[in-house]
Amino acid sequence: MKGLRVVAALLICLITGAAATTTFEFSNKCSYSVWVATLSGANNPPLSQTGFHLPSSSSSSLTAPPAWSGRFWGRSFCSTDSSGHFSCLTGDCGTAQIPCNGAGGSPPATLIEITLGSNGNADFYDVSLVDGYNLPVAVGPIGGTGDCRLAGCQSDLNGKCPPELAVDGPGGLVIACKSACEAFGDPRYCCTGAYGTPSTCGPTNYSTLFKTACPMAYSYAYDDRTSTFTCVGPKSYTLTFCP
Ligand SMILES: *[C@@H]1O[C@H](CO)[C@@H](O)[C@H](O)[C@H]1NC(C)=O
Repeated sequence: MKGLRVVAALLICLITGAAATTTFEFSNKCSYSVWVATLSGANNPPLSQTGFHLPSSSSSSLTAPPAWSGRFWGRSFCSTDSSGHFSCLTGDCGTAQIPCNGAGGSPPATLIEITLGSNGNADFYDVSLVDGYNLPVAVGPIGGTGDCRLAGCQSDLNGKCPPELAVDGPGGLVIACKSACEAFGDPRYCCTGAYGTPSTCGPTNYSTLFKTACPMAYSYAYDDRTSTFTCVGPKSYTLTFCP
């Protein structure tokens, strides 16, 4: 009886696609460690890990249920001090430990945003530089139908970061690049106040600099036409640091 019920449940899942989880395959092609952070959107369950160490040249995967929505980013230059307090010079989530436990990252950080579809609806995914940039990343679906292109910012924007946006790390190395909104707080750059609509907030010299370096990423709040990608029903996504 029990066996029959399991078979019936499996069949229903196969027919409706209700149990189709999506796999996120993380891989770190940087020459240094990245600590991945995951943050589920409001009313979405946390993934099994909210932060983990991804050493150079390693891979790791997580799964998400249908219709899951959330974001990922990489943290760099992380360490644990003598009192056991973990922190990162970029993307830190302020929990003092490797898991982010529902906390967001401190900008600037390159963000990967994914909303999974369900019942045959498309997934949406993008890479956003709206909160600045710390690491080169690419995200692309495996399988699926439709547009399904690779999104990302593969270029080393730290090397091209204007000094007024640069975050300096050890030895004066530029380790992240702020958004102009974060650096200057100007409504023109933040798309707020009088600039709070798509028609009043256009690209600026700073967002254009980001866009030129990374045409497949969001460069400012209303930069949506060329930067959001869709794909119907991919089995998995590859998320690569330093692609
Ligand atoms: C962008 O424009 C602002 C204001 O016009 C100017 O002060 C700044 O130097 C420009 N920056 C770059 C990188 O072109």
